[in-house]
Amino acid sequence: MRKKVTKAIFPVAGLGTRFLPATKSVPKEIMTLVDRPLIQYAIDEARAAGIKEFIFVTSRGKGALEDYFDHAPTLEQELRKKGKDELLEVLKDTNMDSGAIAYIRQHKALGLGHAVWCARRLVGNEPFAVILPDDVIAAEKPCLQQMVEAYNETGGNVVATMEVPPEKASSYGVLDVQEDMGHVVKVKGMVEKPPVGKAPSNLAVIGRYILNPSVLRSLNQMKSGAGGEIQLTDAIASEINGEHGVYGYRFRGQRFDCGSKSGFLQATVAFGLARDELRDDLLAYIRDVVHLDRAAE
Ligand code: UTP
Repeated sequence: MRKKVTKAIFPVAGLGTRFLPATKSVPKEIMTLVDRPLIQYAIDEARAAGIKEFIFVTSRGKGALEDYFDHAPTLEQELRKKGKDELLEVLKDTNMDSGAIAYIRQHKALGLGHAVWCARRLVGNEPFAVILPDDVIAAEKPCLQQMVEAYNETGGNVVATMEVPPEKASSYGVLDVQEDMGHVVKVKGMVEKPPVGKAPSNLAVIGRYILNPSVLRSLNQMKSGAGGEIQLTDAIASEINGEHGVYGYRFRGQRFDCGSKSGFLQATVAFGLARDELRDDLLAYIRDVVHLDRAAE
């Protein structure tokens, strides 16, 4: 019997420099798409996949993130008094049971691999998920849930992957494919941020992973890789010839790179249009803007 995936690491210790000055005082993960912070989308996805323990790797200045998951008795009391049951319901999603959430500090931003390694004692000897909250994925079946199913079939390390245009590949970890089975690909190599024209495929790794605990042991021995950071990709690549192997999973859904301004804006529009109460107004506005733009040409 395969061990169930019940723990997820959320590495949120990065500096978020692309969103300065906002991220000087607001953690990137608290920035909102419509009215929900990025972290809420990540937590909802993890819950849907059966995750019970949520491990945040944080850093200085991320206090707002910790507060977000606390109960807010005064606010709740006030809403109850005013009969705002719908809002009380909305707040429920933000509450975490005591003991279900843990925070661990990454003292220096030494890279994603290092951030994951910081959580090793909380993970122990179990398979675990890693979710990067700045990759937001709109999907009918939540992406991590799809991946847990793929993990249950393969037993290997599973990384979410999507096709990207060749000129974009150098911004990602890229898969070297041994066997393409459709939604699942068996991986024979992984390269972090390959130089332009040198990518082994157009399959980029994005921010969802299900990993076996042996990855943490590889991270123990890691030296810094591309960009002087300790790369998670390198530790996963060292699993390729190990007991479990590595698989790419082509998820069904649309991924928004909310770590970039353009991706964040696109996600705002997409999630706004998906809301019944906002759709008509927003659509009319977008039509107007596009129309004006055309008129100016
Ligand atoms: P990014 O590469 O997006 O870096 O990290 P960043 O610091 O968040 O943002 P920019 O590039 O400066 O704008 C990808 C994910 O890895 C986490 C980040 O919090 C983010 O979720 N991370 C990165 C860490 O937790 N620790 C690190 O040392 C680096």
